[in-house]
Amino acid sequence: MNCPLSDTVPPTSPASPVSGPLPVAARRWPAEGFRRAPYWVYSDSDIYAREQAAIFRGASWHYLGLEVEVPEVGSFKSTYIGELPVIMTRADDGAVHAMLNRCAHRGNLVCREAFGRADKLNCVYHAWNYNLKGDLTFAAFRHGLRGEGGLPKDFQYAEHGLRKLRVATICGLVFATFDDQMPALEDWLGEVGDGIRRVCRGPLKVLGYDTQRIHANWKAYHENPRDSYHANILHTFYGTFGLSRQSQESGMVLDRSGRHVYFYTKANTDRDSADYQATASALRSHNDALTLEDPSILTWRDEFGDGISVQILTTYPSFVLHQIANSLATRQLLPKGPGQCDLVWTYFGFADDDEETTRMRLVQANLAGSAGMVSVEDAAVCEMIRRAVGDGATGESFIEMGGRDLDGGGNTKLSERAIRNFWHAYRQDMGL
Ligand code: FES
Ligand SMILES: [Fe+2]
Repeated sequence: MNCPLSDTVPPTSPASPVSGPLPVAARRWPAEGFRRAPYWVYSDSDIYAREQAAIFRGASWHYLGLEVEVPEVGSFKSTYIGELPVIMTRADDGAVHAMLNRCAHRGNLVCREAFGRADKLNCVYHAWNYNLKGDLTFAAFRHGLRGEGGLPKDFQYAEHGLRKLRVATICGLVFATFDDQMPALEDWLGEVGDGIRRVCRGPLKVLGYDTQRIHANWKAYHENPRDSYHANILHTFYGTFGLSRQSQESGMVLDRSGRHVYFYTKANTDRDSADYQATASALRSHNDALTLEDPSILTWRDEFGDGISVQILTTYPSFVLHQIANSLATRQLLPKGPGQCDLVWTYFGFADDDEETTRMRLVQANLAGSAGMVSVEDAAVCEMIRRAVGDGATGESFIEMGGRDLDGGGNTKLSERAIRNFWHAYRQDMGL
């Protein structure tokens, strides 16, 4: 595999955790394998550095944004893959391109704005200019001045462009990778691509953004939307107001590699059963006495015509696409050190939405947005886990809901199968 940026993988054994050295024995993965996650994996700074090389600069496709965010030739957007800054552009060939946002001269940040339009990318430090594909087109004082200075005579622009990434799109979503040997994006997504095709059914329109700083390791958040089993327990709003309950028709789909997953629920399909009743009485959400003064937030339209009220889709290692009622959003997970991460939310609708539909999507951001009635609890849980785990020197999680295997157990949402598959893939990539 061609990983030109992955040559900085630190050794696995030396420990330099957040607070004092861990005993080497504590760095050993539990014998139960993917059915356990040792808590040092969430806090260890050596592990974090290794993830940057093996996962974020390694063999994965990473979400960058929506094609519509770079709508015309000259449009650009700045973003990240892992810790590395990346520029996404629309070049004069009409295609979306991506490159490392790091000048090929002395490493300065070339693009400093979040979004914009430009006919070239200009590094302010010494005025090296690049076109929108990342090729170097100009270097100030290349030939020196009055016979002095200048770059060597054999200096070639073609050898000093920005580091280009491979780019692929699916239904208006843009992904990129540092790995030139990656399989095609749609092959990599496998069956989970169906969940993207279902939601992103036409030209998209951005409705807004927010970025949420979560004081927890990025993997704690990544586990959360793979965890179909918490949704109807933690999120009392779902159950209380019927948007998603375990008693409703639901399912979970993983791709063959187990790296990607989506799960769904169909509102108004409740089928009662004795075991559901036995559990429901213990759920915080089982409270029929609660009502809303203004129930408009619950009004939703079955716009895809299949009755699915909630679909949460996650691709390894850092992307989420949600449909919660008519709220649609992408969530891009950006690690910011072992103990915190940013979650960048992009709320969207379709270019042909009427005003009322747009308004409905925006109202539902109060339910499904980063600070919404439902989603606010996910970050809160990640941060509570961080407090409970501390420096990670002891302990491990238990991940056996729905079985002890990577597959099997049907497609029930009452399963941690997608989390077991995450840890399986993670350990493969990390050599742990
Ligand atoms: S660092 Fe960019 S031109 Fe020198
Ligand atoms: Fe959740």
